[in-house]
Amino acid sequence: MRLLSLCSLFALAQCAIVGIDLGHQFTKAIMVAPGIAFDVIFTDEGKRKDASTLYIKPSVEGLDLKDAERLYGAQIGSLCTRFPASCASNLKALLGKDVSDDAVRHYIKHHPGVQVVGDADRNNSVMLQLGTAPQSYSFSVEELMGMSLNNLKLRVLKALDSHPQARSVADDVAVSVPPYADQVTRLAYLDALQLGEYSTILGLVDEGVAAALAYVSGRKFTPEEYDEKKSYHVIYDVGAGSTTATLFSYTPYKNKTVGVEIESFGFDASFGGELLTHNVYDILYPKFLSQFGLDDSTVLPPKLIARLIETSEKAKTVLSANSDTRVSLESFYNDKDFKAAITRQEFEDYSSDAAERAIKPIIDALNQATSEKVSISSIDSVILNGGSTRTPFIQKQLVALLGGDEKISKVVNTDEACALGTTIRAYQLKMTSGTPDIILKDRIFSNFEISINNSDQLQLVFAKGSESGNKTEIVLGGLNDEINVSLYENSALFQTYSLPNVTKKADSLKCSSKDISVVGVFEIDQNKIFSLSEVTLRCPKKKDSSALSSTTNSEKSNSTKVDDLKELPVHDDSFLNFTKPKPRTQVNVPVSDSHYANLRPLNSTEKKAISVSLRKLRAKDEEKIALQERKNELESLCYGLRSFVEDNYDDLMAETGEDDLETAKSLVSEIIEWLEYESDEATFEDIEFKKVILVGKKEALSRVHKMVEANLSLPELKKMYDEGQSVSSQVEKYLQEYNTQLADIKKQYHDGGFDYQAEDDKVLTKIYGLKSKKAMALGGHFDDFQKALETLRKIVNLSSKKFQALAKEELFEASEGVTSLIYKMMDDVVSLQKKHEERLEYLMTKLDKLKKRQAQKEFRLKKKEEAASKAANSTAGESQNGTPLELKDQKLNGTTPDSADEQSSAEPESTPKATDVDHDEL
Ligand SMILES: *[C@@H]1O[C@H](CO)[C@@H](O)[C@H](O)[C@H]1NC(C)=O
Ligand SMILES: *[C@@H]1O[C@H](CO)[C@@H](O)[C@H](O)[C@H]1NC(C)=O
Ligand SMILES: *[C@@H]1O[C@H](CO)[C@@H](O)[C@H](O)[C@H]1NC(C)=O
Ligand SMILES: *[C@@H]1O[C@H](CO)[C@@H](O)[C@H](O)[C@H]1NC(C)=O
Ligand SMILES: *[C@@H]1O[C@H](CO)[C@@H](O)[C@H](O)[C@H]1NC(C)=O
Ligand SMILES: *[C@@H]1O[C@H](CO)[C@@H](O)[C@H](O)[C@H]1NC(C)=O
Ligand SMILES: *[C@@H]1O[C@H](CO)[C@@H](O)[C@H](O)[C@H]1NC(C)=O
Repeated sequence: MRLLSLCSLFALAQCAIVGIDLGHQFTKAIMVAPGIAFDVIFTDEGKRKDASTLYIKPSVEGLDLKDAERLYGAQIGSLCTRFPASCASNLKALLGKDVSDDAVRHYIKHHPGVQVVGDADRNNSVMLQLGTAPQSYSFSVEELMGMSLNNLKLRVLKALDSHPQARSVADDVAVSVPPYADQVTRLAYLDALQLGEYSTILGLVDEGVAAALAYVSGRKFTPEEYDEKKSYHVIYDVGAGSTTATLFSYTPYKNKTVGVEIESFGFDASFGGELLTHNVYDILYPKFLSQFGLDDSTVLPPKLIARLIETSEKAKTVLSANSDTRVSLESFYNDKDFKAAITRQEFEDYSSDAAERAIKPIIDALNQATSEKVSISSIDSVILNGGSTRTPFIQKQLVALLGGDEKISKVVNTDEACALGTTIRAYQLKMTSGTPDIILKDRIFSNFEISINNSDQLQLVFAKGSESGNKTEIVLGGLNDEINVSLYENSALFQTYSLPNVTKKADSLKCSSKDISVVGVFEIDQNKIFSLSEVTLRCPKKKDSSALSSTTNSEKSNSTKVDDLKELPVHDDSFLNFTKPKPRTQVNVPVSDSHYANLRPLNSTEKKAISVSLRKLRAKDEEKIALQERKNELESLCYGLRSFVEDNYDDLMAETGEDDLETAKSLVSEIIEWLEYESDEATFEDIEFKKVILVGKKEALSRVHKMVEANLSLPELKKMYDEGQSVSSQVEKYLQEYNTQLADIKKQYHDGGFDYQAEDDKVLTKIYGLKSKKAMALGGHFDDFQKALETLRKIVNLSSKKFQALAKEELFEASEGVTSLIYKMMDDVVSLQKKHEERLEYLMTKLDKLKKRQAQKEFRLKKKEEAASKAANSTAGESQNGTPLELKDQKLNGTTPDSADEQSSAEPESTPKATDVDHDEL
């Protein structure tokens, strides 16, 4: 399976890659990370998709947003029907739009209660004013989407926490966009992702492209199917808000890769499941009016409209499977119920124009095919995607178009294909190396043109149907004081760049200004965003020398157009690093200054301000969560204390009396009540304060309870004393033994002439850190224990008369003193023992090594002396050749103790030489 091979490649990456399908109605996300193969990101409620909705109740002071209660998707529950003015849903329809756009008017009509306002600083780009005045605040659509995206990111991070192989980082993201999204909309998506705190935006993936990738990667090819035959398919996607048809082809090559080519698409930006819901609404509404005898001019309050839309949605779903349904809304109007029936026939009659709209995108897509003419008969399948393709109404139209249902393919998961494909694409974009097994050829479906210095003449730069991800150079003209370049999409102006002071820049060039040409590099990137990425001033090429010159000049473009990204010339100054002062043949002009014709993306100042505000809100959210956790803790302490009192009521009564217990119980009730009704403004300190009181009360009662249970008879206490005594002497024995062992080692060191103190200091520092002085102390516990034991001794030695006279409390105190300390002290002993053993081990091992080294040194010395004396003998008498050789051998075998000595003073255990010695000896 294809996905698996993707995953194995993925082992290279450390962090999660997230693909998001930001739907009109639902958002789905899938991630891939080490050990995680395309996992769906679940909601907190365990759902695979979440409503693309956000509920915000802002707290405002003056003009500033102080805080906001924010809920996402399924968390919102029925709040949106109750408070429509705080509800931001279906934001996708508003992204990159201004308030006068048709889509926005449509939105307002169907989202009663929501205040749409224009951002005066951004040509009336859409903002939503959420909340009820005066506690209301205007948010840009990008900001709201950023919040949702960030909430999704937090869910990803949470999911990653349970996967130890993957790092908890989710910065790489891709998001699906409608294929018809224009430049401003695409830029708005990028802004929203940035505000959502994703630092690496891998790409915007057209929805049809994503679904095609999901389809092909899920398709299993038999060996014979790798036959290089191209087949055509349509992704037919009917979502809640829009419908698109994407025509694509795939070719399984003999080398087992599959080429996927996007051909064309058709769309209807406002036809979708939601429109069908509104059709049901439009049928029900007159029924409502007539039931209550109201006339057409009646204006329903937003809450009622919201309820009626909700009911229409349900009725539409029922009508998918049944021929009729009844709706019933309790106390809908004037405290009376609204009841009505609706048949499928009624619905289909009302939706008759919808039938045509449903399939038109497919026809458009076929008509616009890029590579060759494609007809209905030449497509192999129509792959259904998007929840609304499940409705019988839609499928009926499709059967009529295709003349049967053989070509209708239901193999992709209509809810998740887009998210899956987006993640696959994100993965491809992340992994730049390696050979992909699906090769995507994506196209642009707009013409991108430019005009220079406000000329009416548009020049086509990237044509509709050409591949996305391309760069090209265009000569903008000769040197001019001011040059501006305007960018158009399908002849609609959207951005103008101004290049000031161009003439000044030309001073550093070696040619005369009349010969200079101004060249622009235009780019259409993978996100299908068109831009002017670079401008250079160039001297003309010397025809003869350029052919001869073998260096950098020949690499400079010899034509004004360079098609491939990678073959772009490098205009880097570093090329001239040997000849710095020489006049240059070309120079860059900055292209930072541009303005947008209609809507513009958020500028850096605005984005920064929003980011700061969002981070503040998130910090507040985190604080609220932490506060809630503390409250929950306090609450469970309350219940703990209450059941403790109830469970042990009689026992406790006998010791402390009823008053004390009733105080405890009313303390609990009081705090529970406070938590429930008065703790909204509570601070951490308030909660902590109450907690301390509760815990104190619980401890006191626990102690009483323990006393009730305790056996405080004289024989029992005597026994305890004896045991304590024996533990105490045992501990003392240990300590003594330790000292004896140390003394013994110390002696061995001294005998060998080694420095014991130095080594001991070293190991103590290692074990106890720098404060090794306290090394042998047994904590305070041993002393305390002995004191407690002494107290107990006095008690058990009392005459029985005096013993009888003691208060139970006092006896308990004495026995508790011993029992509670005994455990603490034993812990100390165990830890001390471990450390002592470590210390011994170190000193012994070190001693061994020191001894070995000394032995080697002596051995060498002896050999040297022997050799020397031999040499002396040989010069005196017979000649002996073996001597120098013998010395050499010794050097090889030996472990160069001198250098080992130096290193060992720092890290004795870990020097390789020290270990070598050990191995040699073994
Ligand atoms: C961004 O736009 C605001 C107006 O909303 C303007 O005041 C600000 O100067 C702009 N910042 C930049 C960097 O262009
Ligand atoms: C397989 O063949 C296709 C078409 O010839 C080519 O584009 C692709 O790079 C090849 N893939 C590999 C891995 O060789
Ligand atoms: C890149 O764009 C140029 C200019 O429009 C065009 O001639 C060329 O064919 C494009 N390259 C690809 C691979 O589409
Ligand atoms: C560009 O030229 C204008 C006048 O033409 C001048 O006001 C401005 O300061 C110049 N800018 C730079 C960066 O030289
Ligand atoms: C352009 O330069 C390339 C090498 O950089 C060369 O192969 C090609 O022939 C040149 N084309 C022309 C028209 O000079
Ligand atoms: C420029 O410097 C780089 C390293 O700084 C060097 O690799 C390169 O060869 C130099 N270029 C020329 C033309 O000498
Ligand atoms: C060297 O000579 C002396 C006496 O001359 C003798 O005692 C000694 O053993 C000799 N050493 C060796 C290594 O032959």
